[in-house]
Amino acid sequence: MRNDFEKAIHFRHACKIFDETRSISPEDLDFILEAGRLSPSSFGMEQWHFFLIKDPEKRSAIREVAWNQPQITTASELVAIAYRKTVRSHDAYIQQEFDKFHYPDWLRELYARWIDPHTDETLECWSSRQTYIAAGNMMTAAASIGIDSCPIEGFERDAVEKIMGIDTSLYGVPLLLPFGYRIKEQQPRHRSELSELITLI
Ligand SMILES: Cc1cc2nc3c(=O)[nH]c(=O)nc-3n(C[C@H](O)[C@H](O)[C@H](O)COP(=O)(O)O)c2cc1C
Repeated sequence: MRNDFEKAIHFRHACKIFDETRSISPEDLDFILEAGRLSPSSFGMEQWHFFLIKDPEKRSAIREVAWNQPQITTASELVAIAYRKTVRSHDAYIQQEFDKFHYPDWLRELYARWIDPHTDETLECWSSRQTYIAAGNMMTAAASIGIDSCPIEGFERDAVEKIMGIDTSLYGVPLLLPFGYRIKEQQPRHRSELSELITLI
């Protein structure tokens, strides 16, 4: 298991161009999405939503507002990782989550006390942070079955959300995540040594 995980983290790299002739099977896509679904989130509120962008015209339009990055159109699958904006305790989505998971009153009250006083801006930031945890797990899950990915923040967010046609009072899209198969070998990786990254306190 340890070796499998190690192999996956070495296999994963930010793939810049995918093999357009290869498609991810529906089972493999489900496996990747499942890794997102089972990710941890603050208060267990699953502040994410995954949009699968299948329409080739929308993909091309998105590429134009994403620095013309080839990953957008060459990937087999393009997932837009969205965060939820309606995350105050009285919002319908949160009420639904509380009820779905039978949250006791004390936990609902704790949530309201902790979360509700924040500004919209800090709440959006908090909500969006959760999505990166899911995205990380999805990329590692993909790598464990030989599937490549590339996290993409290089895009005009308003334009992408408009092309997707999503309700921006409910969702924001901080990250695009293409999945597919590499066409080129990965480049040597640059990483600092652990000793440079760790401080004992
Ligand atoms: C949040 C985030 C946003 C990124 N945005 C882009 C992007 O827009 N385009 C791109 O080619 N790579 C993007 N990357 C990939 C990084 O450049 C890459 O992960 C880093 O250089 C390390 O290389 P490696 O992932 O191959 O190990 C992004 C990575 C992260 C984590």
